[in-house]
Amino acid sequence: MPDRRIDPQSYRNALGRFATGVTVVTTATPDGVHGMTANAFTSVSLDPPLVVIAVAKQARTHTYLNQARRFGVSILSAEQEPYAWHFAGRPREGLQTPFVWKKEVPLLPDALAHLVCSLETTYPGGDHTLFVGRLEELWYRDGSPLAVYRGRFFGLIPLPSGEWTPGRELTDTRGTEGGEPPEQWW
Ligand SMILES: Cc1cc2nc3c(=O)[nH]c(=O)nc-3n(C[C@H](O)[C@H](O)[C@H](O)COP(=O)(O)O)c2cc1C
Repeated sequence: MPDRRIDPQSYRNALGRFATGVTVVTTATPDGVHGMTANAFTSVSLDPPLVVIAVAKQARTHTYLNQARRFGVSILSAEQEPYAWHFAGRPREGLQTPFVWKKEVPLLPDALAHLVCSLETTYPGGDHTLFVGRLEELWYRDGSPLAVYRGRFFGLIPLPSGEWTPGRELTDTRGTEGGEPPEQWW
């Protein structure tokens, strides 16, 4: 029975204020590559390296993830907004969707990051299922991310305290040449 204590629209309005990045989750299916736009994605564990995506039970991707058991996550750049629409059930006429393959897993070219995952486990999550993926391989580049906030797409503008030098990771604790490792801030 639906839980009437929380109005679905209020849930959307409140949770939509949690700004996120945007990913496209890709699977190889017998009929070709399938992609789905997803922002219910987050990191889970560093050791072992795990990520999670909440996928609606009615999404085709739900079936494909269970079948393929390996999948790609492409973290979109701001320039890739058309792909976010395209893989969210709003196909863009004439949009080319070539894929790159890493370890036999398809990914979107020109993304900010590529994650090759194998399905570690799933957890029930109401009308969604949580798919936990173990990272087999990753790749990333500099660039501006696509963000989603209150159901709209945004670019990202740093605040003065967020000024950052391209090529340098704020979270990198491995040390830099000739200097102290930057402070880890989370
Ligand atoms: C910005 C954005 C984020 C989305 N995030 C998710 C998500 O995390 N999980 C999900 O199941 N659907 C999400 N969706 C909806 C799916 O992309 C959409 O329902 C898609 O058409 C499902 O594709 P499929 O049925 O072909 O797998 C999102 C849509 C948009 C526009």
